[in-house]
Amino acid sequence: MEPVISITTQAERKVTDTKSLPFGKIPTEHMFVAEYAGGKWQNAQVVPFHDLTLSPLAMCLHYGQTVFEGMKAFMMNDGKINVFRIDKHYERFSKSLRRMCMPHVPKNLFSDAITSLVKVDSDWVPSDEEGSLYIRPFMIATEPRIGIKESDNYLFMVVCSPAFQYYSEPLRVRVETDYVRAAEGGTGDTKCGGNYGGAFFPTHKAKEDGYDQVLWTDSVHHEYIEESGTMNAMFVIDGILITPALTGTILDGVTRNSLLTVAREKGIAVEERRISRHELAEALEDGKRVEAFGAGTAAVVAPIKTIAIHHKEYNCYIGEDALMYQLKKHLFDIRKGNTPDVHGWNTII
Ligand code: COI
Repeated sequence: MEPVISITTQAERKVTDTKSLPFGKIPTEHMFVAEYAGGKWQNAQVVPFHDLTLSPLAMCLHYGQTVFEGMKAFMMNDGKINVFRIDKHYERFSKSLRRMCMPHVPKNLFSDAITSLVKVDSDWVPSDEEGSLYIRPFMIATEPRIGIKESDNYLFMVVCSPAFQYYSEPLRVRVETDYVRAAEGGTGDTKCGGNYGGAFFPTHKAKEDGYDQVLWTDSVHHEYIEESGTMNAMFVIDGILITPALTGTILDGVTRNSLLTVAREKGIAVEERRISRHELAEALEDGKRVEAFGAGTAAVVAPIKTIAIHHKEYNCYIGEDALMYQLKKHLFDIRKGNTPDVHGWNTII
């Protein structure tokens, strides 16, 4: 049986103008925390946001046994608040935990933690068109011990932060062929901290050369597109929506899945398959209309205006009638309650 969540509120900080702040900089007033010890979850609480006290020996600090999710809550047009696709995020969180040998979180504990916290901090959900409340559930290994083993103790926490546009401008990306993000059998489809830490250096190098992000390629041929920085990669070539298939080395993005579902329902041809950098370069060289974009919870739909493939830059289509904007609008309409939520993606709290 999962623990009952106790709620302690404290109205200290007022909601300020969060729009001008960088993504994820300001937490809301409260957080959720539950402890895992003796093989069970206990002390599940919504409490005022506070810093943690951890032993310097805590295993998450040394061996990267950490897993996280990124989700969003939206204010609908009628003023109600919904949390988007709790089930799909729970499924991925559970899969990541299994891969990182971390304890299972019961479904009710996961969803009650999120909905209780969002309810308590509902004043922080932006009402603006582009605004949302970013929700970050995560788990860390806390057992104090330098020896390598799976931790016996964990914290499962949820924090939130008001979010607006993650990228304010269309992106310039570089297809990465020297460094890889993930290899088959690794943790590429796991939302674990190490995947992101390992990406900093190649991304830093790309930024030094004037790009915003890298487009990762596969670890064997350095040829097939995988994903981009913080997002899944998607392309529209000759009206077909193409995205790398879920082969185990890329994240099963919830925005990716939502956009593919919406596209199929609109009768748009969708292909989940390998797409090579050569195929991409050829389409661009042949003068085909190519849209490229990133899809992710934080970024939503992030248009790519320039792709560098092997030292040559190509321009992608970012005109107003681009398919990516139509898909983004459809998603937005579901979240805002302008279009029926036929899949039950919105959990109204
Ligand atoms: C997300 O899109 O939710 C992510 O986790 C990506 C990033 C903010 C690290």
